[in-house]
Amino acid sequence: MGNDLKAALFNPLQFASITARNRVVMAPMVTNFASSFDEVTDHQVAYYAERARGGVGTIVVEASPISTRGRISSHQIGSYDDRFIPGLTRLAGAIQDAGAVALLQLCHGGPKILTPAGIRTESVSPVAVREGDVPRALSVAEFRDVRRQFVLAAQRAQKAGFDGIELHAAHFYLLSASLSPYTNRRTDEYGGSVVNRTRLSCEVIEDIKSTLSPDYPVWVRIHACEALDPGLSLVEGRQVASILEAAGADAIHVSAYTLPINKKIKGTVNIRVGAMPLKDTPPGPFLDYAAAIKQAVNIPVIAVAKLDDWIIASRALVDGKCDMVALARQLLCDPYWARKVQSGLSNDIVHCKYCMTCHTAQQRGEAVRCAQNYNLFGKPIYKDT
Ligand SMILES: Cc1cc2nc3c(=O)[nH]c(=O)nc-3n(C[C@H](O)[C@H](O)[C@H](O)COP(=O)(O)O)c2cc1C
Repeated sequence: MGNDLKAALFNPLQFASITARNRVVMAPMVTNFASSFDEVTDHQVAYYAERARGGVGTIVVEASPISTRGRISSHQIGSYDDRFIPGLTRLAGAIQDAGAVALLQLCHGGPKILTPAGIRTESVSPVAVREGDVPRALSVAEFRDVRRQFVLAAQRAQKAGFDGIELHAAHFYLLSASLSPYTNRRTDEYGGSVVNRTRLSCEVIEDIKSTLSPDYPVWVRIHACEALDPGLSLVEGRQVASILEAAGADAIHVSAYTLPINKKIKGTVNIRVGAMPLKDTPPGPFLDYAAAIKQAVNIPVIAVAKLDDWIIASRALVDGKCDMVALARQLLCDPYWARKVQSGLSNDIVHCKYCMTCHTAQQRGEAVRCAQNYNLFGKPIYKDT
């Protein structure tokens, strides 16, 4: 039984034109390790290479802003200019050399963008997701600019050798703000019905596929549902996934917005629920959402959130709840999670304590830290080693 369970994690999976060596995905995590000019740095390459060597099959590289306005913090990896291509090329190559598929997550921060003097947040409707920060609603003409910026960013990812991209349509960034009835109050063809709210994401997928190639893999990360009023219901989340599949999406990565937020993040959050399991959250809080989405589509579904117990992760695959499992914080703590599980050394895994040190640093715009692993750029260093 143990071996069957393990085999489920380490079966290869083909999506679009590529094959991942196993079902383990490194989920995207903004690290703020890029330079002050948003360029990939050497230590950032080392950080990702170590996690690819640690055995994951696919790495979704952290959210990369598609425009200068779309940035959510400084020191993000830019994809909004050709000058980023050499750094992106080194990064994709280092991940692939270590045997993992390299995807780049593309993002416009929308209502959560950086707001230096003179810059206002922008979204689909003037609904705040941060305390006192009511965004400006973008026009349809501005949506066309955003679509073009997504395509140019995807082209840069492709030129740099990334195997594909993931669109960040979760966590109330621009595409997510369009999908959610909480943030989308438009009355034109981009608001109202689920089809209308999904329109912007569909157009971005279609533009990318028609400009790059229908085979270029495009994953989309969405909320399955939101504990908000009005929020995306699970029924709507399934419809969104199915509409995105019809538009050409190659996989759906299932996050959600139903968990209590981290109380350490003060003064920045209006919405009192989030996507990040806390210490007390039971494992796999979104697995049943992934299963519900999986029933609505024929493309691979990726589950995420507190899946560091390999038996729970494998069982989700065996039970058909998802096709891949993504881990985020656990891989900061122990980059070799997958390799250790595969070689029967799961007792040696240093487990994430979900203390939120990493997330708190990231939300403050600081370089991500891990309270347990003092060296994120190579072989881990733990307190008593
Ligand atoms: C420091 C940090 C940065 C994150 N950055 C991103 C991001 O760039 N894009 C994204 O979709 N999710 C981001 N997330 C959310 C994770 O991808 C993941 O959904 C979440 O942490 C739950 O998974 P886990 O329990 O395995 O950590 C981030 C999470 C953390 C802790």
